[in-house]
Amino acid sequence: MAEKLRIGIIGTGGIAHSHANAYKSFDDVEVVAGADIIPGKARKFLDEFGWTDAAAYEDCESLCKRDDIDAVSICTYNTQHACCAIAALESGKHVLLEKPMCVTLQEGIDIMKAEKKSGKILTVGFQPRYNNNCRKIKRIVDSGELGKVYYVQIGGSRRRGIPGRTFIDADKAAFGAIGDLGCYSLDLSLNSIGYPKPLTVSAYTSDYFGKNPKYYSEADRFSVDDFSAAFIRLEGDIILDYRMAWAMHMDICSDFVILGTDAGLKATAPHPNPLWGSIISGDISGLYIMHDKGGEPVTTQLSLEATNYNIFTMKVRDFVDAVKTGGKAPIPTSQIIYNQAIIDAMVTSAKERCEIRIEIPEI
Ligand SMILES: NC(=O)c1ccc[n+]([C@@H]2O[C@H](COP(=O)([O-])OP(=O)(O)OC[C@H]3O[C@@H](n4cnc5c(N)ncnc54)[C@H](O)[C@@H]3O)[C@@H](O)[C@H]2O)c1
Repeated sequence: MAEKLRIGIIGTGGIAHSHANAYKSFDDVEVVAGADIIPGKARKFLDEFGWTDAAAYEDCESLCKRDDIDAVSICTYNTQHACCAIAALESGKHVLLEKPMCVTLQEGIDIMKAEKKSGKILTVGFQPRYNNNCRKIKRIVDSGELGKVYYVQIGGSRRRGIPGRTFIDADKAAFGAIGDLGCYSLDLSLNSIGYPKPLTVSAYTSDYFGKNPKYYSEADRFSVDDFSAAFIRLEGDIILDYRMAWAMHMDICSDFVILGTDAGLKATAPHPNPLWGSIISGDISGLYIMHDKGGEPVTTQLSLEATNYNIFTMKVRDFVDAVKTGGKAPIPTSQIIYNQAIIDAMVTSAKERCEIRIEIPEI
């Protein structure tokens, strides 16, 4: 049997478990190290998965220094994505980086420069890309059936779904719903229409639920946003109308709508919307195309496709296959830098209460 791919896991908290479960299910990879800044946490995690021979570190640099590791999963909280990704790339490792890519546009640019210099690949972990209904939506747009796309509406809706843990600390997560659910919704909508370049953003954020002890038990610690809305102009004269909520007095803030000159597509969120479910992870209750036939408006309901595999496992498998075959990053930084630029501009726009023009340098 060919030599196994040697993996390190950086950040061994919640989501690292889904990476570990995936790696454990493959017989052509071996997890040889883990790192977490909380003393003892990486050791406990590795032992839990039966990797008792794997080395545990208390910082990312010590793991990266090892030259017998091929690739890493980075599962730290958001503010630690860029430094860990750059350290891993600079030490010659391929990277599977959890979403969002990072916190600011400048960090995204720095990651891309390190990736280019290293000759390694970095893929960003948006597992909803592997959901069959999300794939179907992209196929429909790609087929040209909608005509020229000019307006997209996307929403990530939770009525009461503030995640807690490190997601609500500004020093760890940097932002709330705007970048947490927001980065998924941006990936779903932008990927569906071919990732057009973002031009300008005008955004709003609020924190009326997270900061209110009546609605949230950890209100004293909450330091990020819990709701955001934005109006985003994209190349090709396309408008992206965006609304995200971790909490609100409403069931959904938007279905997923794509308007084209020949037809419109609508993916509806489950009704009643579950408190935690979201259309952006492929939780779609109905898929419709609206167009004219014989001069009359008609609506066609499309079938929904089951996803009979674990999308977390798929995203890790796709990364492993790309590394093993010398292939391209499955979800490349060249696309996700647009996602990151929008998040960065939304944060600034909301803070400065004005429209922001997006400038992304050639890398
Ligand atoms: N793809 C998904 O569905 C999904 C789901 C949840 C979270 N996430 C993303 O995964 C990331 C982690 O989320 P989580 O819920 O696992 O958070 P978490 O707080 O449970 O785990 C993060 C871990 O990283 C460790 N850490 C932080 N900085 C580090 C560093 N420099 N070196 C080594 N370890 C470090 C922390 O000590 C912690 O144990 C976030 O970016 C989040 O957005 C993705």
